[in-house]
Amino acid sequence: MSSPRVLILGGTGEARELAGELDRAGVPVVSSLAGRVSRPRLPAGEVRVGGFGGPEALARWLDEQGIAAVVDATHPFAERMSVSAAAACAAVAVPLLRVERPGWSPVEGDHWHWVDDLGQAAVAVPEIGSRAFVTSGRQGLGAFAHDKRTWFLIRCVDPPEVALPPRHLLVLDRGPYTLERELALFDAHGLDVLVTKDSGGSQTEAKLAAAQARSVPVVIVRRPARPDVATVTTVAAALDWVQSGYRRGV
Ligand SMILES: NC(=O)c1ccc[n+]([C@@H]2O[C@H](COP(=O)([O-])OP(=O)(O)OC[C@H]3O[C@@H](n4cnc5c(N)ncnc54)[C@H](OP(=O)(O)O)[C@@H]3O)[C@@H](O)[C@H]2O)c1
Repeated sequence: MSSPRVLILGGTGEARELAGELDRAGVPVVSSLAGRVSRPRLPAGEVRVGGFGGPEALARWLDEQGIAAVVDATHPFAERMSVSAAAACAAVAVPLLRVERPGWSPVEGDHWHWVDDLGQAAVAVPEIGSRAFVTSGRQGLGAFAHDKRTWFLIRCVDPPEVALPPRHLLVLDRGPYTLERELALFDAHGLDVLVTKDSGGSQTEAKLAAAQARSVPVVIVRRPARPDVATVTTVAAALDWVQSGYRRGV
């Protein structure tokens, strides 16, 4: 009989890395993707795509599939999936671990304005600059739609499905980004304010170094609150948790 599978809630580099490590170690794994990105980078092992239909449906799915444990490796801003995973795992007594990379912190010389959401970011931007670099992803971009004053460079992976501000340039791209390329963007477009979520991680942090190098202020969205579940910050610790029977390493 095959051993029970570990479900990885994915959509991040950490989730892909963990799936690869577990697959290599011979641990049966199924990765779940929301299905938002048109050409996702696929992890090793089995993959399923699409929402589960809420916490009750996820609990049923875990039960039916005989899932041994769940690793929630979704993005720090994927709030609903994490809440749903916490409720579902508690309901069917399946062990749950959250992997969440640390957030970014300002260093000396940075000018960061922390806000709670993109609505607040949209209010802050015209008070700070006139040429904004928005790197917060395509969700929530509608918050900037009514800003007629600011010129926006908007960068996201897939085309946004919401109205965008009248003065903008859209760039479709995905990380990792280098400092050299980010500096070139700041210089070519005369960017004077950067908007980002506190996503953390090294893949997209070059923009922060570029902002610092050009003395450009940053409007940064705080992470949403998280359910109270066992959490690690690295893929290595998550691997250890799985390999030690879902106990140690947290
Ligand atoms: N938010 C970001 O800034 C961001 C950035 C990079 C990557 N991502 C990735 O993109 C995905 C969607 O992000 P989001 O912010 O839209 O999440 P979200 O608001 O937490 O999720 C909304 C709904 O999408 C479904 N869903 C989300 N992640 C899923 C997964 N890994 N597998 C299956 N269903 C999933 C769930 O539907 P049901 O309730 O029907 O189960 C969830 O309730 C996440 O997997 C996340 O890791 C997000």
